[in-house]
Amino acid sequence: MHEKPQGQFGDYQNEIYFNGLAGVLPSLPMNHSELEARAQAALPPSVLSYVAGGAGDETTQRANTSAFERWGLLPRMMVGATRRDLSVELFGLRLPTPLFMAPVGVIGLCAQDGHGDLATARAAARTGVPMVASTLTVDPMERVAAEFGDTPGFFQLYTPTDRALAESLVRRAEAAGFKGIVVTLDTWITGWRPRDLAAGNFPQLRGHCLANYTSDPVFRARLAKTPEEDPGAAVLEWVRVFGNPLTWADLPWLRSLTELPIVLKGICHPEDVRRARDGGVDAVYCSNHGGRQANGGLPALEALPGVVAAADGLPVLFDSGVRSGADAVKALALGATAVGVGRPYAYGLALAGIEGVVHVLRTLLAEADLIMAVDGYPALADLRAEGALWRI
Ligand code: FNR
Repeated sequence: MHEKPQGQFGDYQNEIYFNGLAGVLPSLPMNHSELEARAQAALPPSVLSYVAGGAGDETTQRANTSAFERWGLLPRMMVGATRRDLSVELFGLRLPTPLFMAPVGVIGLCAQDGHGDLATARAAARTGVPMVASTLTVDPMERVAAEFGDTPGFFQLYTPTDRALAESLVRRAEAAGFKGIVVTLDTWITGWRPRDLAAGNFPQLRGHCLANYTSDPVFRARLAKTPEEDPGAAVLEWVRVFGNPLTWADLPWLRSLTELPIVLKGICHPEDVRRARDGGVDAVYCSNHGGRQANGGLPALEALPGVVAAADGLPVLFDSGVRSGADAVKALALGATAVGVGRPYAYGLALAGIEGVVHVLRTLLAEADLIMAVDGYPALADLRAEGALWRI
């Protein structure tokens, strides 16, 4: 089965209704709240608190989702939007959809077989929705990239304090065929996360999701014994190298690491967009990490218009709070070049493996496509035109 757009994304509803005629009801949820509830029942408690939780009392996490309610599209009639074009261009690549899967460090653990990175990569191959593979994976990046099929993939870098290790990770990503490097800036230190603190649980400290480190020659050379002989020492070494508190003075070095497109993730302030532009990056990624890092901040969607304006044509990726096709349409209308899905695909994976991820992505795309049809905005450029999106 292949779900890439032969027809229109909205056709997914016909498939579901016709199955219904034959007495086959969808086994997977059709909206986010049911998806969340069912996935949460399916996940082990330690993984659940890590995935579902956020920083502080999770005000920012909730605000990320409710921010979408403050924007609305004004419908246009007599447009005849019988064909919609949701494809986007990014770094010279033509992507069939405007969605991508945001990097989720414990996605490996969300799958029942413990290989969720591979399952996510296979879902990317099936849907054409790119995966941004985290530095923190159960399977090494080379094995993840081998599952992408002809869908491009991106590597998310948590920049280690050891520059030689950073360089090694980037070289490996290049060799594995990743099409860009997403450098996450907001997580050189872990934010205050009461749910994980209450459970005394931080997966990496238990040795989870460190395959990119333990398979790396530079990392292994730092150890007296191999990670297989002494896993505890490998974890302690990981703690030493993990978080690099980068400053703008490090950007020329980062830029010099690769010819691949570089994206800076976690950018919300227009001044930071300008500095990123001046430093020669290829895109900025407006995100507050799904409210997992700092509580009390603005919803990421509120930062998006300022980021888009300052980006001045530079591509802007966006995530944090996208739960529906309607949300994706609004982020695109506010100028995002592509929109990242975070927790929803993790929940799809937890519920039904690859099929669950594919279903979640197809439901988001179907709803976005049908909104564009009903509201008379056949192309993403139409959504971005003056007068399409309004503040409620
Ligand atoms: C993340 N996120 C993340 N980001 C990143 O750059 N590297 C990473 O390894 C992770 N890991 C991670 C784990 C989990 C469990 C979650 C939920 C998120 C942040 C992610 O890329 C994205 O910014 C948010 O998930 C977007 O918010 P929503 O849509 O999940 O609310």
